[in-house]
Amino acid sequence: MASEATFNYKVVRQFAIMTVVWGIVGMLVGVIIAAQLIWPDMTAGIPWLSYGRLRPLHTNAVIFAFGGSALFASSYYCVQRTCQVRLFSDGLAAFTFWGWMAVIVLAAITLPLGMTSSKEYAELEWPIDLLITAVWVSYAVVFFGTIAKRRTPHIYVANWFFGGFILTIALLHLINSAEMPVTLTKSYSAYAGVQDAMVQWWYGHNAVGFFLTAGFLGMMYYFVPKQAGRPIYSYRLSVVHFWALIFTYMWAGPHHLHYTALPDWTQSLGMVFSLILLAPSWGGMINGIMTLSGAWHKLRDDPILKFLIVSLSFYGMSTFEGPMMSIKTVNALSHYTDWTIGHVHSGALGWVAFISIGAVYYMIPRMFGKTEMWSTRLITVHFWVATIGVVLYIAAMWIAGVMQGLMWRATNPDGTLTYAFVESVKATYPFYVIRLVGGVMFLSGMLVMAWNTWRTASGAIAYEAPIPAGAPAHA
Ligand code: HEM
Ligand code: HEM
Repeated sequence: MASEATFNYKVVRQFAIMTVVWGIVGMLVGVIIAAQLIWPDMTAGIPWLSYGRLRPLHTNAVIFAFGGSALFASSYYCVQRTCQVRLFSDGLAAFTFWGWMAVIVLAAITLPLGMTSSKEYAELEWPIDLLITAVWVSYAVVFFGTIAKRRTPHIYVANWFFGGFILTIALLHLINSAEMPVTLTKSYSAYAGVQDAMVQWWYGHNAVGFFLTAGFLGMMYYFVPKQAGRPIYSYRLSVVHFWALIFTYMWAGPHHLHYTALPDWTQSLGMVFSLILLAPSWGGMINGIMTLSGAWHKLRDDPILKFLIVSLSFYGMSTFEGPMMSIKTVNALSHYTDWTIGHVHSGALGWVAFISIGAVYYMIPRMFGKTEMWSTRLITVHFWVATIGVVLYIAAMWIAGVMQGLMWRATNPDGTLTYAFVESVKATYPFYVIRLVGGVMFLSGMLVMAWNTWRTASGAIAYEAPIPAGAPAHA
């Protein structure tokens, strides 16, 4: 029953379930493209299933469908609970759900058909860009409207991160997607040459910083204290963390364009800001992990907490690795190699997917009026399968990447190249097989999650928790 006396759990439930569904779809496409790198002819030359079309389908599905659904679900849950009010508008919230699903379905149709703006992570063509804008504006109205009508005196820090993420993504999308339509399915960027590259990677890096990080830090600040049953380690550190992180991320984009036509000083500036970024990133990670002080024993038998805390370890690892890779001399080795792919997935699988999975396991039973998932043991199984899967994936890519970099730069005493390119491709095969095994394991974990979710939901009622009456406290 929708009423001001209850929280709006419907939209949270919808997004939480779709997180699991899109996780499976996106990772399945990831597994297919990982297999294509071993068996390039496996899709029999069918253009819609070619690597070049499925790869952006993978990135869009995992980032925007899986990650996006997790962000919508958790931000809507957190903002209501911490503000102690129902969402600002049920109608607009429902529009964000159906609108976002429409964006994803359109992506799944147009990308395999080869329709693309060709800007990485912003491939969708202009009509879909317009729909994204409408959904995002509605999201902002629902989120900030809820904050405006809150019953609590202050705005909990998780909402700062969610709010920062929503505003920045709006800015990035509007600027980077400025384009001139020529037909319904084709447009050209408003920028040209090196400016286009610069705008694209200002967008690209902040997509990492805000879509794949700031919102998930919001999740960290809500779900880690909740699951651990402890207050956040340092509220003051969280405020410093917020301002330092959002200020620094904005400048780091040029590290994607080292040794290009971009002016040299711009590249160096990007490198310096990337190095500085280590500090706020680690400050945030420490704040999350230290929230467990006094409750470390809970890690032993709480698999949800395991997901949340291990995600922070991967966050720490990838935000140490990133600044190192942004050093120009290191980037000279890592760029174009599978090292980048290893870095991406230690962030994407280890951090983004792990924290989302933890948060969804927290929310799903509550969405059905229950206190826990159908099987805690299956969550533990999921945790271990996924952990081994990520480790196999990223270790294989690191070794392959450094090997490729070293092989490409090796020269003989007479100055000729020691290896032909194809020799480095051949040497990479075993690592592609290990990556595929890791990916299949990670995907299997998601299937276990889907089964557990199904059993938790079957026979249960669609639940809406009452908003506690009286003086508002943290919920
Ligand atoms: C079963 C899990 C997954 C598998 C098997 C997988 C596999 C792959 C493969 C094979 C590529 C292409 C690599 C290349 O071109 O050399 C790729 C790229 C990528 N994947 Fe995944 N992936 C998985 C999960 C995820 C998740 C959960 C995310 C994000 C939340 C993600 C984000 C990305 C991104 C951003 C790229 C592009 C990287 C770049 O251009 O540097 N992946 N993935
Ligand atoms: C302090 C934080 C970080 C820094 C300074 C950083 C830095 C870097 C650098 C230098 C590259 C390689 C650029 C190239 O050679 O082309 C890179 C690539 C990438 N990173 Fe990070 N990284 C950080 C954190 C993360 C996190 C947490 C994630 C994921 C959740 C992530 C996702 C990516 C992706 C998707 C790419 C590949 C982009 C592409 O070429 O398509 N990064 N990062």
